[in-house]
Amino acid sequence: MSGVPPGALLAPTLIHRFTSIIEPLDWAQLFASAQPVEMEIGSGDGGFLSRHASAQPSRNFVGVERLLGRLRKLDRRARRAGLQNVRPLRIEAEYLLRYLVPHQSLHAVHIYFPDPWPKARHAKHRLVKAGFPELLHRVLAPSGVVYLRTDHLEYALQMREVFDASPQFAAVETPAALVALTTEFETAFNAQGKPTQRAAYQRR
Ligand SMILES: C[S@@+](CC[C@H](N)C(=O)[O-])C[C@H]1O[C@@H](n2cnc3c(N)ncnc32)[C@H](O)[C@@H]1O
Repeated sequence: MSGVPPGALLAPTLIHRFTSIIEPLDWAQLFASAQPVEMEIGSGDGGFLSRHASAQPSRNFVGVERLLGRLRKLDRRARRAGLQNVRPLRIEAEYLLRYLVPHQSLHAVHIYFPDPWPKARHAKHRLVKAGFPELLHRVLAPSGVVYLRTDHLEYALQMREVFDASPQFAAVETPAALVALTTEFETAFNAQGKPTQRAAYQRR
């Protein structure tokens, strides 16, 4: 996948236009090549996903983000790099996973620095909570992996608690090449000397 020469016109937007929010997505309609699909939930400004997708041209990548400004940054990064294996999706992640992602169709899910909802009365809004492993188990392909990172210690414990309690997942190591690909929030936390946590779980 070669980069776009300076001054060349950018390709049209890669942001997916939903024609239905009822019918499940068909990855074959979103991507030019039929290859394993990975998803990043809360892809933010897209720094991680665009670099990961550049390094893995034999995989397809979906970036899920509810903020349009951030999603557009991922779109621009992917188009500038000439990537054809990236599709940004503007949608709420839990709805997407519950209703629109075909079962057993994802080879990896990346969830990096999801909103921590630090106040106790708001903790119910966290994405990774009781019931989430079951939701992910439905959409992950056999042996698919979920990769998690957070700066919030209590949320890290909650993530580990719910996945450790699930008979549907087993803890695995995050490959070093993936650890080296940091996100924008992670880079900012690292610069401030704030410790961050990571975990990964493989679907049984
Ligand atoms: C703290 S930021 C982290 C962004 C990026 N992963 C990083 O590490 O730089 C969390 C992102 O997740 C998005 N987000 C939070 N909850 C979401 C949801 N339920 N569905 C889609 N996006 C969500 C937010 O808009 C935000 O951009």
